[in-house]
Amino acid sequence: MTASWTYVDGLPGLNAQIDSWLLEILDAKSAPAGGRYRPAMALTTTPARAPGPGTTLTAQPVQASGTVIVYRETEKDTAPDGTSTLTAGTVYADAGTGEVHRAADLFRPESLSGIRSLAAEAVNHNAGPRPADTSLSDVLLDQEGDLRVSTARPGFKNVEPAAVTVTVGASDAGSALSDFGRNVLSQIRSRAPVAVPPASFPGLKHINCDIVPCASLTYDDGPDPKTTPQLLGILKDKNALATFFMQGANASANPGSAKEVTDAGHTVGNHTFSHPYLTKLSAAGVRGEIDRAAAAIRAATGTVPTFMRPPYGAANAAVQGAVGMPLILWSVDSLDWLSKNPAVFVPKVLKEITPGGVVIMHDVHATTIAGQAELITTLQTRGYHLVTVQELFEGTPLTPGQIYRSRPERR
Ligand code: NI
Repeated sequence: MTASWTYVDGLPGLNAQIDSWLLEILDAKSAPAGGRYRPAMALTTTPARAPGPGTTLTAQPVQASGTVIVYRETEKDTAPDGTSTLTAGTVYADAGTGEVHRAADLFRPESLSGIRSLAAEAVNHNAGPRPADTSLSDVLLDQEGDLRVSTARPGFKNVEPAAVTVTVGASDAGSALSDFGRNVLSQIRSRAPVAVPPASFPGLKHINCDIVPCASLTYDDGPDPKTTPQLLGILKDKNALATFFMQGANASANPGSAKEVTDAGHTVGNHTFSHPYLTKLSAAGVRGEIDRAAAAIRAATGTVPTFMRPPYGAANAAVQGAVGMPLILWSVDSLDWLSKNPAVFVPKVLKEITPGGVVIMHDVHATTIAGQAELITTLQTRGYHLVTVQELFEGTPLTPGQIYRSRPERR
């Protein structure tokens, strides 16, 4: 199985459509192996569990004009005897309205059978094997308003499957277009450069951690004016994003280092102002620690954290009720502060990490920084995407007062 696809930041509807198309096929391919697709199947360390070797999936843009982007999604399956089948469909995303439609939605429902007949008639004039059907799943519109309807021919042994493409003229197609289809045609005729709105959150790239293996590296107790910038250099070099649970007092003392963290696209979490055991404080005391830290982090970075981590992981129902935001704990405890030795904590993390996991480390120790290049390189080689906590939990709601240790598995 190989798969390649491209998201468009700023078009969440299109990204969601691509994700659900991928997951539907990945689940179907994983079912004979005993269950649903899991991102762990994509790790390089578990190749035997990956779904079927003979499948290639692609989702890539094929046409773009004005506010409309057209994608083609293809699935090629090759059986053990060498016979291949090809399935393809086009998807239309309108950045102006956010609408995402399949090709059949270009037409008024009552016109579908007529267009289908015209396409079938054109196919019959073609030489070669007959396609299985003309389902109108793969349709492109050109600037003249002509339709290009593609249908896969059934493959045969050791011969690449190919699509048969026929044209339905604008004179027949024009009256069959739906409102959506007419809008698409006018956008294609405009020949305007593609206009896509910016992503809803600056720096937030769409990623689906139900499809690819993800992990969040988290660093507590900083920022430190010496070690935090060193870590930022390594993360930049490795093209990895991370989450920094800052102490408000340290953000106040080292505002420049705090700002460097957010400027680099990393996410900041609230780790209280002075790092007390919150379980020993009153509700008002807990709120005071959170609010002071939020103010200090905002003063230094211009952003306010939306989740927190209690010092020492110490929480109870009273603390959960008082903090007023989600509590992010961890699934992998590096104990970097205890060993102060990369030869100890790096293998520990690599042994315990699983997709969706959250690793706790501390960016205030030189020994922790010393192990990061090796840790990050090894994780990426295994297929992990290193993402912020915000990205890790995308699509799964984080509720104030609730404790989270890793991304929940898709049901
Ligand atoms: Ni801490």
